Amino acid sequence: MTSDPSPNSELPSSRWFDPDSLRGFGHRSRLKGMGYDDQDFRGKPVIAILNTWSDLNTCHSHFPERVKEVKRGIWQMGGFPVEIPVMSLGEMMMKPTTMLYRNLLAMETEEVLRCHPIDAAVLMGGCDKTVPAMIMGAISANRPAIFLPAGPMLKARWKDQTLGSGSDAWKYWDERRAGNLCDESWGEIENCIARSAGTCMTMGTASTMAAIAESMGMTLPGASSVPAVISEHSRLAVATGRRAVEMANENLRPSNILTEASFDNAIVTSMAIGGSTNAIVHIIAMARRAGIPLTLERFDELSKTTPVLANVRPAGKFLMEDFFDAGGLRALLQQLGAHIDRSCRTVNGLSIGENISGAEVIDADIIRSLDNPLSESGGTFVLQGNLAPSGCVVKPTAASPRLLNHTGPAVVFDNYGDLKAKLNDPDAGITADSVLILRNAGPQGGPGFPEWGMLPIPDHLLKQGVRDLVRISDARMSGTSYGTCILHVAPEAAVGGPLALVQNGDLIELNVEQRSLNLLVDDEELAKRRAAWTPPPARYQRGYGAMFLKHVTQADAGCDFDFLHHGADTPDPDIY
Ligand code: FES
Ligand code: MG
Repeated sequence: MTSDPSPNSELPSSRWFDPDSLRGFGHRSRLKGMGYDDQDFRGKPVIAILNTWSDLNTCHSHFPERVKEVKRGIWQMGGFPVEIPVMSLGEMMMKPTTMLYRNLLAMETEEVLRCHPIDAAVLMGGCDKTVPAMIMGAISANRPAIFLPAGPMLKARWKDQTLGSGSDAWKYWDERRAGNLCDESWGEIENCIARSAGTCMTMGTASTMAAIAESMGMTLPGASSVPAVISEHSRLAVATGRRAVEMANENLRPSNILTEASFDNAIVTSMAIGGSTNAIVHIIAMARRAGIPLTLERFDELSKTTPVLANVRPAGKFLMEDFFDAGGLRALLQQLGAHIDRSCRTVNGLSIGENISGAEVIDADIIRSLDNPLSESGGTFVLQGNLAPSGCVVKPTAASPRLLNHTGPAVVFDNYGDLKAKLNDPDAGITADSVLILRNAGPQGGPGFPEWGMLPIPDHLLKQGVRDLVRISDARMSGTSYGTCILHVAPEAAVGGPLALVQNGDLIELNVEQRSLNLLVDDEELAKRRAAWTPPPARYQRGYGAMFLKHVTQADAGCDFDFLHHGADTPDPDIY
């Protein structure tokens, strides 16, 4: 084939493929070495498919099939698809925590988009951190980008029970420790609780972040609710590929889409779905990449006025497949009425209001109306007080009402190893009134901000029928977790936050309604303890871990690296 379609010099990729130069020759000749000819790529938008697949990312096991479907859509619209594997971040297998690596995937996404001939990108993610990471990177690179959520797995059945990812694993593990579940039943649950490819099918972090991506305008309408393995998900993949080509031609970038109002929509959505507490950290990080200085105060304001409408576990009763069948996120956003700014632009070029117009609620128990909410105020509360001067968070809908206003004596664990060693020690003196404290489990202390915040209930209390305690930490918890867990205490203990100063027996006063968390110890005593405090030694002396410790910000600032915040433009590469 010798014909030379007219080059489209508007496209960034034309810098690679158009010039009659030695470099241009090199770029073209190597694509030809792959079996492509001019008609495949000359003058066509190059669409990167950033794929977070790996054999160890259990939630993305359908991505090899979906990539083919995305490519189909790109070819249909006259684009040139290129698949680029990026760090996979599978929540189940990565240790110590994927959160240690969210910023690494964000950096990889940004740099991959900048250093290659790419005119637009399809971001294929889903398992928790892949969503914010890829969007953070795309925002900083500011290339046209559309997110394709992996979709939740099908709901699981065991005997006459419906099982939800995470939530029911925790629940039945406690029953097993309480002596109520035999080996055989536990084995059966293991066999059936993960029923298909896809992300956790509760309203965990993955489903929450997908909903947030959609509500901030970064996916096609309805994309976040589609189960991973149904045919509609394949058609979504093809449509996403098609749209990416149009976005390249329109040069529709994240900076044309994301505004303060779109982040408000994201916050309102996270509250209305009773979403994961982790959303707060990720939304702040994404917003700050876009130059929007979001703080915890905004979450507090919007949580007070946003009702929870999604009756999905762990806050409610149903699972993501039910939510999809009930109308999905479009229907929920429609129900939210004036709580959503309908004028915000989205990746399909239409406003979010246009995208949700006509969306119907099929089951009003699963997607509630404003006059029959699951709870009057939002899913996640921000608390403040002398124990958390820079704030902390709690999900009251997933907590025990009797503990939301509670004062009790602290039982302190210095780190997770200490917790493991002492939790079941009768001398630790843990009672149903105790307030369990885990510290040195934050961004610096973990390190990496692990999901240790749902501290286990001691065996002896489980056997007495106790299933919840007030638990306070500078850690996160899984979005599938539940209980009266106060999380993300900032500043964290490892940098000298007041959590570092708590001693066994100190009284802690929690009042969720008043949004307060206080340590009832006088200032003079606290000053004495502070003078005697020394920081724990840094865990990493070299490599990525050392860089993480040097640059990660606190929970209330989104835990991004300080040098990745919005600022001066990064120049595109020169092509000599
Ligand atoms: Fe991947 Fe829950 S483990 S979404
Ligand atoms: Mg999770």
